[in-house]
Amino acid sequence: MVAKTMDQLVSLCKRRGFIFQNSDVYGGLQGVYDYGPLGVELKNNLKAAWWRAMVYERDDIEGLDAAILTNRKVLKYSGHEDTFSDPMTDCKKCKQRFRADHIKDGKCPNCGSTDLTEPRPFNLMFKTAVGPIDDGETFGYLRPETAQAIFTQFRNVVDSTSRKLPFGIAQIGKSFRNEITPRNFIFRVREFEQMELEYFVKPGEDEEWHEYWKDERVKWWYEQGLSSDRLTIYTTPKEDLAHYSKATYDIEYQFPHGMEELEGIANRTDYDLGNHTKAQDEFNITAHVHENKESTQKLAILDDDNKTWIVPYVVEPSAGLDRGVLAVLTEAYEEEDLGDGNIRTVLKLKKHLAPIKVAIIPLKKNHDGIMDKCNEIKQKLLKLGIGRVALENTGNIGKAYRRHDEVGTPLCITVDFETLEQSPESVTIRDRDTLAQKRINTADLPSFLREYFL
Ligand code: GAP
Repeated sequence: MVAKTMDQLVSLCKRRGFIFQNSDVYGGLQGVYDYGPLGVELKNNLKAAWWRAMVYERDDIEGLDAAILTNRKVLKYSGHEDTFSDPMTDCKKCKQRFRADHIKDGKCPNCGSTDLTEPRPFNLMFKTAVGPIDDGETFGYLRPETAQAIFTQFRNVVDSTSRKLPFGIAQIGKSFRNEITPRNFIFRVREFEQMELEYFVKPGEDEEWHEYWKDERVKWWYEQGLSSDRLTIYTTPKEDLAHYSKATYDIEYQFPHGMEELEGIANRTDYDLGNHTKAQDEFNITAHVHENKESTQKLAILDDDNKTWIVPYVVEPSAGLDRGVLAVLTEAYEEEDLGDGNIRTVLKLKKHLAPIKVAIIPLKKNHDGIMDKCNEIKQKLLKLGIGRVALENTGNIGKAYRRHDEVGTPLCITVDFETLEQSPESVTIRDRDTLAQKRINTADLPSFLREYFL
């Protein structure tokens, strides 16, 4: 059984320290969230899994960590200044603003008034003054996607790594969009993180790579625990494609609020590198290069014979990290009926994603011998490199198990009187999913846990 409602997830996330409303003490800031002590672990674990799959387990991808503040010209030539907007309609009566395609029968969705403005474009990018003088001219943007810096740094990466096609550049980082209607918890927000790969290929090989990356990305999401009956591939109709895309697949997931996009995999052709390259006549590149007079760059690569410059095509798997967190939480959340009205809430997260890996629980609260042993074990486990290890001293072992089930801790270790009395010394290990318990010698814990987690 998976999460039935978004409310269940929102409540768990707040109660257990995964996700909080930003600026909560002042009533919040709409469409902006903060990750708490357990949320930051889950998010970091998901990022690490993506980076491992993209950069460490392959030899054709380099990493990048570019700045968020972006020169206006980048987003001018990328097409975002002109096209990254939604047509909006204002209701003159209640003063609310809506996406024009959300207006039904010419009526305001809020108050029903028909006194509406004509649709007008509303740019989704956040502008900000750069430098001490806010004269309205010297401004930059907070990037609306991480991708543009990958394109503008293309030559620096090629020159410093001597890469040949095909190869990719991967980046994880914040993006900002002034969404008109942020909603559904962390699904549609104004500040979010993306995990983006730009994979550069020879023109003509792009469609094959597009298929390849669609399959790879679906496989990766399965490895994060998402089930096949909740994932689907949607082929974007031509008329709905983004301004840069020749073809796009969306990986959609059954979120609590509906089937929606988790990741887009676009064939961006040579649109971006071409647009950021100085005009074709100066560089004599035999590809689709646009009339950019302001760039200083030829964002191209020499072919295998070092004779011809090629502007590569790009296939782009672009995943939302926050949507990824929401998807794995949705999938992992279960309420199990243990009988007699006893409900166990458990997050069956994959162990590599779990925020806390192991909880050490004393059978008796504040018992000197037991607590000393718990602390001794904890100190040993902290050095293993498996991730967070927690020590509970609540005295109620049932409650401690419940708490760790709810946050997805895969293993609980209990130190009891037998631990102190018997030789060789042993503890109990409890498995979150099967609830099976077994005794293990304390001396064997490090090797057992290393094998289990690493
Ligand atoms: N570089 C391509 C690009 O940005 P996109 O489809 O606009 O494409 C990619 O965004 C992914 O980023 C989406 O599939 C989604 O997971 C995430 N995303 C986009 N807008 C978002 C928002 N307002 N809140 C949370 N995630 C968002």
